Amino acid sequence: SKGNHRHYMLKEIYEQPIVVAQTLRSYLKRLDEEISLPIPEFDLSSIRRVTIVACGTSFYAGMVAKYWFEQFARVPVDLDVASEFRYRAPVLEEGGLALFISQSGETADTLAALRHARAEGQKIAVVVNVPTSSMAREADLLLPTHAGPEIGVASTKAFTCQLAVLAALAANLAQAKGRLTRAEERELVRHLGEAPAAINAALAYDEEIQLVAQRIAAARDVLYLGRGPDYALALEGALKLKEISYIHAEGYAAGEMKHGPIALIDEAVPVIVLAPSGPLFDKTVSNMQEVQARGGKVVLISDYDGIAAAGDDCIARITMPKVHPLIAPLVYAVPVQLLAYHVAVAKGTDVDQPRNLAKSVTVE
Ligand code: M6R
Repeated sequence: SKGNHRHYMLKEIYEQPIVVAQTLRSYLKRLDEEISLPIPEFDLSSIRRVTIVACGTSFYAGMVAKYWFEQFARVPVDLDVASEFRYRAPVLEEGGLALFISQSGETADTLAALRHARAEGQKIAVVVNVPTSSMAREADLLLPTHAGPEIGVASTKAFTCQLAVLAALAANLAQAKGRLTRAEERELVRHLGEAPAAINAALAYDEEIQLVAQRIAAARDVLYLGRGPDYALALEGALKLKEISYIHAEGYAAGEMKHGPIALIDEAVPVIVLAPSGPLFDKTVSNMQEVQARGGKVVLISDYDGIAAAGDDCIARITMPKVHPLIAPLVYAVPVQLLAYHVAVAKGTDVDQPRNLAKSVTVE
């Protein structure tokens, strides 16, 4: 049931601290210890390349994972949406690892891509939320998320649980590849263990986000900008908004604006900037200023330090807790979800069952 919540989507957004903790618990022996994958005999040290394939929101989780696997484990990652992967004749090395990400485990494009990869001699790893699904059955390495049933068509808690599993996998892969000392691995695991509390802290900004949503609801177009893993979050934010509010939205890599999309900017286009403080912060802020110089209305989502450093030229600022870069995507997912939710409610759309969409897409 929806409990006290008006929609399943809101209930599922609020479940995230619990289900992310639940998911993490099954991957971390103890939060101050090393990570243990459910199939420890699976040898991660021999992996030379990972091919990640998924659709929609699950694809954006894969995109975050690409940044993590490359940064922490120095393992090259290919990333595709399933409907492209299958038909572009991908070159796959014998014995490579192909990783499929899906809430339902039944998405037709992803399942077909999985079978194609198997036929091409790949080992099949699956991050999936429905344990009885086709993809779960067909995995060599099954990496379950423990989000519980997700009813809202817009995926929320499944996404953050996918990120939790993928972050654990990134740390484990980095360790297996000799890129992390035990002490460094423990340090990452400790940060990962902080995710549920940080997500909870992000949820505390719900009312503020609701106020911002009132200002977004009248827009015809909305842009989302981010760099690094926050680029994936920008794409996810735009997808969420499109799906449930029917407002046209696009996500861009912040540095890509000047190569075209900045032509769209005027006073009528709200621009949501996702910029946790860190090495990429100044770059994103200068992209944000380029938008402001053209009359763009910026909503900045950052942490306290970032907000303090960015000046007050924004129409709204949403303060997130300051967290380690590994868990920032799990935290920044929350304002992005809540913003889409409140805009949709303001517009009076059917939040849990948006038009033209099905929860599980079992046709190609
Ligand atoms: O069940 P899956 O994770 O394989 O589904 C993939 C997409 O269909 C799904 O994420 C879709 O994009 C959601 N409606 C996003 O909110």
